[in-house]
Amino acid sequence: MTFRARRSVLYMPGANERALEKAKTLEADSLILDLEDSVAPDAKADARARVAAAVKGGGYGKRELAIRINGLDTPWGVEDLKMAAEVNPDAILVPKVARPGDIVTVSRIHAGMGGAADTRMWAMMETPMAIFNVREIASVHQVARLSCLVLGTNDLLKESRALATGGRFAILPWLSMTLLAARAYGLDVLDGVYNDFRDEAGFRAECEQGRALGMDGKTLIHPGQIAVCNALFSPAPEEVEWSHKIIAAFKLPENTAKGVITVEGRMVERLHLAMAQRVADIAEAITAP
Ligand code: COA
Ligand code: MG
Repeated sequence: MTFRARRSVLYMPGANERALEKAKTLEADSLILDLEDSVAPDAKADARARVAAAVKGGGYGKRELAIRINGLDTPWGVEDLKMAAEVNPDAILVPKVARPGDIVTVSRIHAGMGGAADTRMWAMMETPMAIFNVREIASVHQVARLSCLVLGTNDLLKESRALATGGRFAILPWLSMTLLAARAYGLDVLDGVYNDFRDEAGFRAECEQGRALGMDGKTLIHPGQIAVCNALFSPAPEEVEWSHKIIAAFKLPENTAKGVITVEGRMVERLHLAMAQRVADIAEAITAP
């Protein structure tokens, strides 16, 4: 099975040993071991060593591991990438990608450093230039081994000077543009973080909004956000059951050649079969050991 659920994607500061350890017991689908914004300049080398030891040491089970490196235009980026090429996480998250070349360059340098060919690149979409170029960035997915766009909503607010008002009124078009560009090239998209991690009602509303927009999951900052996020980004049991009915109906001998059929009184087309298959794949990935 190649499908991966990416409902809950938890960031943790690479310098925080306790968080790196605790993550082994948390129900997050993916973990982002951060070397960038959550690590102070003086702690960069220490965080890099801790993250390297954590990835090498393993113990994270089926959780997907991504390392967020510093940009290559910083004093730490190249060393971060070298470390990632040695320890082979599932993904490398590249911050502040602004142009397609940014992600292609990281991918090429990583390959040149002997990094594994199956390490995927994830791109932070967090600057005005990134949003303008999102389609071109997504379009280099094959050469850059890019599989996921990650919204950096805090940086988007900072750079745009928009206000963090309820409903994310100001940034909503940028979220949607990113989503559509990702889908145009078959990539996943992860929604930005919700800072007020004690506010469960607000967090829940933002997860629901992200899900409605089409996000695959949400990036998180605190373990307390995982359960709600997993629940809201999982297909509902009725949805899974309905999907299995559609799949079964198209398998009936009388339907195998048909484009459109009726299931329990509703019109179902092959596009619905494709949607149903996706729901079934997600449900299977979630329950897989
Ligand atoms: N990943 C893993 N474990 C985490 C965690 C995270 N992101 N955030 C908190 N925890 C752990 C704590 O270590 C603590 O563990 P313990 O009970 O075993 O001691 C437990 O969860 C409860 O933490 P709590 O006391 O509620 O939070 P805190 O005050 O220690 O930390 C933050 C609050 C916001 C500083 C912290 O959650 C954090 O660093 N989040 C991630 C920030 C980040 O990576 N930002 C970059 C991307 S936006
Ligand atoms: Mg950022």
